[in-house]
Amino acid sequence: MEEVIKIEGGHRLHGTVRISGSKNSTVALIPACVLGNAPVTIYGVPNISDVKSLTVLLRELNVEVKQLDEETLYIDPTHMENTPMVSNAVSKLRASYYFMGALLGKYGHAQIKMPGGCYLGPRPIDLHLKGFEALGATVKYEHGCYILHADELVGNRIFLDIPSVGATINIMMAAVYAKGRTVIENAAREPEIIDIATLLNKMGARITGMGTSTLTIDGSVQPLKGCFHEIIPDRIEAATYIIMAAAMADDMVIENIIPQHIEAILMKLEEIGIKMKVGTDFVQIYGREGELRPTEILTKPYPGFATDVQQPFTALLTQAKGQSIVTETIYTERFKHCYELNKMGADIDVRIPSGFINGSTPLSGTSVVATDLRCGAALVVAGLMADGITEIHDVYHIDRGYDHLDEKLRSLGAVFWRETVE
Ligand code: EPZ
Repeated sequence: MEEVIKIEGGHRLHGTVRISGSKNSTVALIPACVLGNAPVTIYGVPNISDVKSLTVLLRELNVEVKQLDEETLYIDPTHMENTPMVSNAVSKLRASYYFMGALLGKYGHAQIKMPGGCYLGPRPIDLHLKGFEALGATVKYEHGCYILHADELVGNRIFLDIPSVGATINIMMAAVYAKGRTVIENAAREPEIIDIATLLNKMGARITGMGTSTLTIDGSVQPLKGCFHEIIPDRIEAATYIIMAAAMADDMVIENIIPQHIEAILMKLEEIGIKMKVGTDFVQIYGREGELRPTEILTKPYPGFATDVQQPFTALLTQAKGQSIVTETIYTERFKHCYELNKMGADIDVRIPSGFINGSTPLSGTSVVATDLRCGAALVVAGLMADGITEIHDVYHIDRGYDHLDEKLRSLGAVFWRETVE
């Protein structure tokens, strides 16, 4: 038995949708909370399965976790124990690797199973490990577990070959108590990095340069303390709903967003013919002026076009007249959604690292598989546009990252439900 999502396509969307707190911030903020010895309260926590998996992991470390209300999590590491992290919950998401930096930083020791997460092609963590080593840690891999150890962590100058989001955050957490100064060059500049550094600074860390490619961490002598923190809005969720609106709305508002975080995406939407108004914390989509125009997209680290938006955007581009080309520079194999979209009638020729989308093609509902989280988002966009009913399998990928998807879509007028099937 399996739960599937069903969408009856062709219904216009209208109204307002409120964007939740950022998933990719939340999954790093939660491990960051254990760096101190006092309770931290975080607000804006999305109701997604990745948060549930991290909550299981916190409890296994004897950290007290309380859900104060739907969006507020209280995390108290006062009685925390640094036990090996070997349970199944570790493999449910990639972000469990943030406990490497957090535990190494706090205790000088971490033992953790290989993390899981979406398969997007190879996703090495060599840059994380090199960063830990540069701070003085030894790294061993035994029986499927990473064992990190340092008698003392000492600040260092670290150059990242690639501006990796995960490596930047992990090294930043490991360096919070390291002796002296750590400088990360070619650091990632994603808004989520700023969010994590802001939380750590509220807890008493001394981090500067976040949002630029040079991040400086001056090691703290005092244990970090508790604080209250509000999570930034989810720019990928925002972009996903904006794309849905571009596909199926004549007037729809996406609110509680930071439009600067999605500038590259908004520019592309305008380029293909979507009419919009950009406010301080909302975007209003007024539909399209005539037929959609094709475009070329190159995914890039922030502030470039986000790889996580490439997949839902591709679904929209099936409706542009002419050939669009999407090229991946971050995850060159992130094209599984194209094969699923082709089952629905799209004409996408994948020649890694690019997808050539020949449009416009009518889409028709059929049975498809969410091979990863944003592939799932692409299939939801396609399902809203398609003729007939789309049945999406492996929906657990979607539930890892989209807060209250069913309620939000139904309130916008989508015909969207779940069924249990054989
Ligand atoms: C984060 O993954 C996000 N995940 C991903 O979002 C997102 O796609 C990605 O950043 C890129 O923006 C979270 O924040 C939890 P990276 P991360 O390290 O940190 C290579 C989603 O759908 N690399 O910035 O794992 C890597 O292979 C998810 O929400 C190394 O070579 O990504 C990739 O090509 C999926 N060695 C590039 O760097 C390393 O040690 C960028 O990866 C680390 C990364």
